[in-house]
Amino acid sequence: QKSGVTILGIFAVDVTFLAPRLPAIGETLAGSGFVMGPGGKGSNQAVAAARAGGEVRFITKIGKDAFGDIGLKTWAEAGATARVQRIDSHPTGSAFIFVNDANGQNAIIVYAGASGTLSPDDLDLEKETIAASKVFVTQLEQPVDAALRGLEIARAAGTITVFNPAPATAFPDEIYRLSDYIAPNETEAAMLTGIAPGTVDDARKAGDALLAKGAKNALITLGGNGVLLHNATQSVHLPARAAGEVIDTTGAGDAFLGGFSAALSKGLDPVEAARYGSATAGISVTRRGAAASMPTAAEIEAFLRS
Ligand code: RIB
Ligand code: NA
Repeated sequence: QKSGVTILGIFAVDVTFLAPRLPAIGETLAGSGFVMGPGGKGSNQAVAAARAGGEVRFITKIGKDAFGDIGLKTWAEAGATARVQRIDSHPTGSAFIFVNDANGQNAIIVYAGASGTLSPDDLDLEKETIAASKVFVTQLEQPVDAALRGLEIARAAGTITVFNPAPATAFPDEIYRLSDYIAPNETEAAMLTGIAPGTVDDARKAGDALLAKGAKNALITLGGNGVLLHNATQSVHLPARAAGEVIDTTGAGDAFLGGFSAALSKGLDPVEAARYGSATAGISVTRRGAAASMPTAAEIEAFLRS
């Protein structure tokens, strides 16, 4: 009997600066705030899924340094099982994040560090973990061949696959065919399909293009426009709803995917799972930080009822 969610991805410590704009080269600009906390898309998704009540295992690599310790503490506190290797050759991942203090939007430089050495062999070591899971999730912050192997293992085992093509980089077409759900944001969907999903209609066209490439479902996050769940038999648009003032959208996509995967692993149908993911994201954007902003199942359920 399969259960829970296994997530492959990177861990990074996010070093976040708030400012009214980015500095120009050679300029020194006064910031208006600073936060340091756990990030990395895969880890954020794992924290979101665990806090949302999922039984979560997280596959990654970290260095033997202080940032790595932050990772271990993060997963322990969230209640996610760390399937983690600590290595000497690289530091733990880290990310420089600029948050515009006027609108909460961000720009990021991420260095995968130790998790940048994740390889297909590392995934082979976790074959049983993946096969025992109901849902497998990965992204593209670690090397693509590791993502591919994880998806292959999951598909062969009959585990539901969720592929988040983030950040937007090239990947082999085979990955589409291995994806039960391909979950890009607007930018990634535009890069993959050539169709910018500025409207829900255009998102449907982008969704069709993703299905034509072999994915079973397209789950396109549209920022303030919500999310579109699109497959051969239905196309459901869920508008976005924030639980309060939007102050930091860092990790909103990860919140969505964590909530979605946790809900899917508990047997919710895809539309209900997407609604659960949207509510998870709708709360996370009202709080600072990435992993630190992920809500609990009780908070998500209260928001869904409100
Ligand atoms: O999706 C947000 C994440 O992307 C941040 O936490 C940062 O670490 C980058 O990986
Ligand atoms: Na946030």
